[in-house]
Amino acid sequence: TTKNSSVAGDWGSGNVTGSVGESGQCICQVFLPDTTFPADRVESLQISSNKLTVDVELHISKQYMVLATVHELSNLTIRLEVVESGPDKYIKLDFELLRIELREFEALVTELKTSLNSSSPAFDSLYNEIRNMSMIVDQLESYDRSNLEVIRIEFTKLQKKLEKCRDEQDDFSNVQIGSCQHKGILRVGKPVVSQLNANLGTGYIYGGWGKDSHPLPGTENRYWYSAATTTVVRYMSVYSDYYKLIMRQAMKTYDLLSPKNWQGTGNNYIIRANTFYYQYASPFSMAKFNITSQTAEYRAVSGASSRFSYHYHANQNLDFAADESGLWVTYATEASKGKLVLGKIDEAAFALSEVWETSIFKQSVTNAFMICGVLYATRSVDTKTEEIFYAYDTQTRQENYVSLPFEKFQDSYVSLDYNPTDQKLYMYNNGYYVSYNVKFKTA
Ligand SMILES: *[C@@H]1O[C@H](CO)[C@@H](O)[C@H](O)[C@H]1NC(C)=O
Ligand SMILES: *[C@@H]1O[C@H](CO)[C@@H](O)[C@H](O)[C@H]1NC(C)=O
Ligand SMILES: *[C@@H]1O[C@H](CO)[C@@H](O)[C@H](O)[C@H]1NC(C)=O
Ligand SMILES: *[C@@H]1O[C@H](CO)[C@@H](O)[C@H](O)[C@H]1NC(C)=O
Ligand SMILES: *[C@@H]1O[C@H](CO)[C@@H](O)[C@H](O)[C@H]1NC(C)=O
Repeated sequence: TTKNSSVAGDWGSGNVTGSVGESGQCICQVFLPDTTFPADRVESLQISSNKLTVDVELHISKQYMVLATVHELSNLTIRLEVVESGPDKYIKLDFELLRIELREFEALVTELKTSLNSSSPAFDSLYNEIRNMSMIVDQLESYDRSNLEVIRIEFTKLQKKLEKCRDEQDDFSNVQIGSCQHKGILRVGKPVVSQLNANLGTGYIYGGWGKDSHPLPGTENRYWYSAATTTVVRYMSVYSDYYKLIMRQAMKTYDLLSPKNWQGTGNNYIIRANTFYYQYASPFSMAKFNITSQTAEYRAVSGASSRFSYHYHANQNLDFAADESGLWVTYATEASKGKLVLGKIDEAAFALSEVWETSIFKQSVTNAFMICGVLYATRSVDTKTEEIFYAYDTQTRQENYVSLPFEKFQDSYVSLDYNPTDQKLYMYNNGYYVSYNVKFKTA
């Protein structure tokens, strides 16, 4: 290619020029007229709404229980998410209501400020953000919905890129996918919050999300999500890729209650080889729902007790996990007096092939996951911090107390699982899709 050659073409009502730079790199410039793609506005809207939540939580956490603010804010956050969530919902959006809510929110911030008797500059920045959000709402109103859809996709792609950039800077992914040539976890990255769940409800705190840990060919990009306002496991949705997940457009939603009652409980399920592994509601047992054949079956887990749940929530008796070496389930037994037991599942036989007993009490553990045949257990440190405090190596039968703290987005969560296909941890944190990068010890 010749240096400085350039091409111009139409791209919507903007234009694109491509050229070759000094060191031979490709340079692509895209001019987007402001009226066509207010992507920056949508982006700052998202940032503002996230930041508002975080800021207010910061104040609330200082013991001042201004419940009304929290309620109003979660309502507002949901409404703002609705703006961004796709054409059907967008069309129904009531901009006037959104404005009223912003004004009400502003009044509540004033109330909060007064009750704290604070002249903190944090409040000024909150006011600024509210003002900015009002402006953004005004601007959004003047764009048509098809543009908003495009922006949503572009924005999501941008988010992914930023995430990738951050990974590279932090030097994550230091071990090849699938490889176990490492000495366990070195550290866990910052929480990456994708967004509020597809049900758009802050009450949907029982659930999980992630990717198939051993996808069938052609389904590598799929994501899944399931949640409820109770520990009952009934609906599970599959998305063809990350963008569909973010746009809340499921390929299909499966109902475990109809036509047959195959319902589960406990929210520590995963998908492996297009099969959903979960805790069966009744009788208490492990179950698998084969998504391909859409049939379920269950098996009792010898000795497993339904008396010992994890620390945060009830009914979390069987916790499924998958790693580079296959499928696992953790639970506790009466014989172990509530200590955590780990079982390896033979997928073909759908039965436990080997069992290991640990020395930690399940009820003090908040969750557990597997990486390369090593069990990791977490516990709560405080409302913002979680810690991987224990590791059990099934190869050597050695256990270790470790301290690998990591940040939470919100204080409690029901599911945390590692996925060997991308070496990320997936957490369902108080209704939000959260993930973490993992860095391994290599020397
Ligand atoms: C491309 O966009 C820029 C900025 O809007 C404008 O100045 C320029 O004339 C456009 N070029 C073409 C070929 O349309
Ligand atoms: C949330 O918004 C809806 C619709 O505007 C309203 O009816 C409801 O009262 C709000 N809830 C709270 C807790 O503010
Ligand atoms: C609020 O703070 C001001 C200045 O710090 C002080 O004079 C005033 O007494 C405080 N009011 C209350 C209700 O604490
Ligand atoms: C509000 O918007 C203005 C103009 O776009 C920007 O300079 C400012 O940083 C924004 N303020 C906040 C708090 O986001
Ligand atoms: C799921 O069902 C399909 C089709 O009947 C079958 O080929 C596959 O082996 C099943 N998978 C599991 C994990 O049972």
